[in-house]
Amino acid sequence: MIIAKAEARGAYDVERIRADFPILGRPVRGRPLIYLDSTASAQKPQSVIDAESEIYATEYANIHRGLYYLSERATERYEASRRTVQRFLNARHAHEVIFTRNTTESINLVAATYGRRFLQPGDEIVITGLEHHSNIVPWQLLREERGIVIKVAPVADDGDVPLEAITGLLTPRTKLVSVAHISNVLGTILPVAEIIRAAHAAGAKVLIDGAQAVMHLPVDVQALDADFYAFSAHKLYGPTGVGVLYGKEDLLNAMPPYQGGGDMIRTVTFEKSTWAPLPQKFEAGTPAIAQVPALAAAIDYVTALGLDRIASHENNLLAYASERLAAVPGLRIIGTTPHKAAVISFALDCAHPHDIAQVLDNAGVAVRAGHHCAQPLMERFGVPATARASFGLYNNRADVDALVAAVTKVQELFGQ
Ligand code: ALA
Repeated sequence: MIIAKAEARGAYDVERIRADFPILGRPVRGRPLIYLDSTASAQKPQSVIDAESEIYATEYANIHRGLYYLSERATERYEASRRTVQRFLNARHAHEVIFTRNTTESINLVAATYGRRFLQPGDEIVITGLEHHSNIVPWQLLREERGIVIKVAPVADDGDVPLEAITGLLTPRTKLVSVAHISNVLGTILPVAEIIRAAHAAGAKVLIDGAQAVMHLPVDVQALDADFYAFSAHKLYGPTGVGVLYGKEDLLNAMPPYQGGGDMIRTVTFEKSTWAPLPQKFEAGTPAIAQVPALAAAIDYVTALGLDRIASHENNLLAYASERLAAVPGLRIIGTTPHKAAVISFALDCAHPHDIAQVLDNAGVAVRAGHHCAQPLMERFGVPATARASFGLYNNRADVDALVAAVTKVQELFGQ
């Protein structure tokens, strides 16, 4: 459906789009850059770079504090950016959008506030076997403190987490289901709408780790009925140092503050302090004043291109790359479900992933190799690490061809 609609609006001109990303024009190691690590962090279009530097050059001052022109302008830009994120996620209210440092901090915020306030010893949290460490470790810290129970839904051989794997773990003690929308290692797209419906029917709240999703598919938190949704700006072609936590108003209001400090209070005396309303209650200290508007610029950029057209382009690349890589002798793709985004983890019989990445780097091809902050998932598939090629809106078929040529070179160097 999405592909047909996107194609009806005309061709996706990837070469013109590439020209928006200055870094793609630079050589590395004397070769053209082939950037296939957008899952770790995406490159930035000029409009995002300009938005951040323009704030510093023309409208910079601290926000929410200054009764003077520049502070008012900077505050307006910051709060307008919150409304851009609200529209992007289709949140009901702008104050349901909390700016954090990244997805990791967003999840830690929920663990430290919702978790500490509402979870009792013996209460259960359901996660899946493909989670990033940032959706495992915060719950383990909470387990040490509160005696909660963490249950893990198993991952199938093709990288899927079927709905039943999660629903089978739900009990009257389940208080929270916290799952990735898309796996950073396998690319698997989880059936989050169905997961949320089932969790709600069991009386549990749901947090979706959307770090790998918001750049690949449209997200509507109201349609999903997500209780919490977290993502990072830097993977969405935006700046580093900014993340988002969406939370339903009633939940955020019921939660205690995360950090204490400036901007999050209503009144302070040495005896007692009271808190500012949302969203300030969760934004202690000077925030990312110049980066938040740059996130809004990134959202404007992907919205103008159309997430449906981006998804269609990336899905075509995924199909092409999967087919070509699968034809390389001794190469195993880990994560073969058809429900996946443009992320390909692979292993070669003849070479360790670190060696693969090094040979690829010499050819100008940037991929990530390692455990991808998902050690339990590596264990599940019986590998210490994988090499991972991940595709963004600016990649093209020539990037895939360069990847396959470099992987073939690894075969020549390390194979029999
Ligand atoms: N979470 C990022 C990745 O998967 C850093 O590479």
